[in-house]
Amino acid sequence: MRILSGIQPSGQLHIGNYLGMMKPMIHNMERGELYVFIVNLHALTSMHNKDRLRQLTLDAAIDFLALGLDPGRCTFWVQADVPEVTELTWILSTLTPMGLLERCHSYKDKIAKGIPPSNGLFSYPILMAADILLYQADRVPVGKDQKQHLEVARDISIKFNHTFGETFLVPEAEIDDDVATVPGLDGRKMSKSYDNTIGIFLDEKALKQRVMAIVTDSTPVAEPKDPERCNLFNIYRLFAPSDRVQEVHDLYIHGGAAYGKIKQELAAILLEYFRLARDKRNRLRKDPQYILDTLAFGASRAREKATATLDLVRERVGLRYW
Ligand code: ADP
Ligand code: TRP
Repeated sequence: MRILSGIQPSGQLHIGNYLGMMKPMIHNMERGELYVFIVNLHALTSMHNKDRLRQLTLDAAIDFLALGLDPGRCTFWVQADVPEVTELTWILSTLTPMGLLERCHSYKDKIAKGIPPSNGLFSYPILMAADILLYQADRVPVGKDQKQHLEVARDISIKFNHTFGETFLVPEAEIDDDVATVPGLDGRKMSKSYDNTIGIFLDEKALKQRVMAIVTDSTPVAEPKDPERCNLFNIYRLFAPSDRVQEVHDLYIHGGAAYGKIKQELAAILLEYFRLARDKRNRLRKDPQYILDTLAFGASRAREKATATLDLVRERVGLRYW
C-alpha cells in the first residue's frame, strides 16, 4: 500500500499540525510505503516572498525530521524538485471540468480570507490531483478540510482512465475521525490564518506567553466549571498524561480548577513533550548540508516513480508522436 501526503510550508508549524497531520504521518511509516513531501508550489498560491518561502520550506523539512520522520524509511522531498508534477498538472487541467473546480469551497474560503484570487489558487486542486496520481498513491491521509480535493483527484483519475485507458489508480482519502482537531488560543480551530497557534518549537519564554494567552472565562477557582467547554482543558487533555487529565477533569466538575496553574502545568508538559525533538532539531539546524542531501536523495527517488508515470501518460494522450 502506498500512502502519500503533503504539507504546505506556509507558516511555522503548530501543535495542531503535529497532532492532526505530522504525528499520524510519521506513524504511517509502519503501515506501508510512505511518500511525504513539502508542497512549495502550492504555497506559491498564497505567498510571494522569496526569502520566506525558502526559509519555511527548510524549516518544515527540519521539523519533520526532528519529530521522527525517518528518510531511510520513506520518500521525503520538496514538491518543486520533481518538475514532472507541473506537466502532469497541465495535462490533467485539459480534462478537468470547470464546474468541478467552481464547486470547491476551499477556493472561496481562501478568497474570503484575503488571498488574491489567481488562476493558480483556483486550479490548486488539479496540482494536488497531479501530486497524488503521479506517484500512484492508494491512500491519502488528510484533514477534513481536504476531503473535497480528494474527490476532485478521484474524479480526474476516473475521467482520465475512461478517456485514455487505465493509467491511474483511484486514490482513497483517509480521514481519521479519531484525530483531534486542536483548538487554538481563542477556541476556534488552531490555524496559522487565525494567529491563534502554539508553535511546536517556540522557545521557553515565548511558549509560556502563548499558553498564558489561552482564553478562559472568569469563573472563580472554587466554582464548578464545564471542562468540555473550556478551551484550556481541551488543549490540556491532548497532551497531559491520562491520569492527570482525569484529576484535572474532576477539579473542573467539583470546583478547584485554577486556570493559571493549569496553564503553567500545560507549558511545562509541552516543553517536555517536544524536548527530544527540540534537541534533535537544534542538531539538524547546525548541519544544513545534511538536510539538503536528504531532500535531494528523496527527490531523486520520487522522480524515478514520477518519470515512469509521466512517460506512460505522454504515450496515452498522444504527446509521444514519434
Ligand atoms: P493551518 O490551518 O494552520 O493553515 P494547514 O491547513 O496548513 O494548517 O494544515 C496542515 C495539516 O495540519 C492538515 O493536514 C490539517 O488537517 C492539519 N491541521 C491543521 N490545523 C489543525 C488543528 N487545529 N487540529 C488538527 N489538525 C490540524
Ligand atoms: N492541499 C493540502 C493542504 O493544504 C496539501 C497537499 C498538497 C496535499 N498536495 C497534496 C495533501 C497531496 C495530500 C496529498 O493541506
